[in-house]
Amino acid sequence: MKFLVAVTLAIVGSAASASVGLDNGPTPVVMWHGMGDTCCNPMSLGHIQKWIEREVPGVYVHSLKFGKTVIQDEESGFLTPVNKQVEEACATIKNDEKLKNGYNAVGFSQGGQFLRAVAQRCPDPPMKNLVSVGGQHQGVYGIPQCEKLPAVFQFLCTMGREAISAIVYTGLVQDHLVQAQYWHDPLHHDKYVQHSQFIAEINNEGPSPKDEYAQNLMKLQKLVLVMFEDDNMVEPRESSHFKFYKEGQSKEVVDFNESSLGLKDTLQKMRDEGKIDYLSTPGDHLQFTETWFLQNVVDKYLKH
Ligand SMILES: *[C@@H]1O[C@H](CO)[C@@H](O)[C@H](O)[C@H]1NC(C)=O
Repeated sequence: MKFLVAVTLAIVGSAASASVGLDNGPTPVVMWHGMGDTCCNPMSLGHIQKWIEREVPGVYVHSLKFGKTVIQDEESGFLTPVNKQVEEACATIKNDEKLKNGYNAVGFSQGGQFLRAVAQRCPDPPMKNLVSVGGQHQGVYGIPQCEKLPAVFQFLCTMGREAISAIVYTGLVQDHLVQAQYWHDPLHHDKYVQHSQFIAEINNEGPSPKDEYAQNLMKLQKLVLVMFEDDNMVEPRESSHFKFYKEGQSKEVVDFNESSLGLKDTLQKMRDEGKIDYLSTPGDHLQFTETWFLQNVVDKYLKH
């Protein structure tokens, strides 16, 4: 999702990070943009990349781009199947010599859960900290910013969520629309587990959970989950904190430990070990200031 960065004039003390040796520079950073956005938009990720480069001298930042052009990059966020994008991201990361000793990752909106899939499927090179900014880790029940969807899917926007649910797990929609691949219908749990191409699979729902997903996720040093307290796009916004509607209804939101998520023991273990940090900040989806980002993300998770 595209967003404007509210610029504040507050100057954040930028004690430059200490030893920046040739072989031992700061940990590189990989970013994955949100829906309707691109790798390098000067109003969003291009801007954020500059903040990180300024605050962490010598850092290498790789903002993932899908397709050859910026237009293709934006389109991919709607139309390129998630599993294919994750595969492409894994290859890009693996082929980038500068990332070979590991990296920290920052995902914006859907980029948050997509980067988690990279951590779970492609542990080499290692992802160290994963910061998910407004991600949807248990999917959504409500299409975010429907009016931005490609014309061919605009018909969904006049439909209620139960009507969308009735068609979103059909091959035609599931195969072609990225947002359908993280659609999570809490009222029809079995259907969700059976047909969701991405989010159910990556969360180890269903009868054949992948052990390596749990093991690889545990390799993260920190999983940082940022939720926007007034998020009007992500339904429910608590999905950013790995929470979701209780199975069988669409009102009450419960934590992962009260769900059927195959990853729940792993997440519980990570939480017990202090590996999950929950952050929340006032504001709508992806609305944050430079000061907030520098203090809460860059200083804490991208400087080592
Ligand atoms: C789940 O975790 C929450 C903390 O988020 C805790 O309050 C609750 O008791 C736990 N529920 C179960 C069933 O363990």
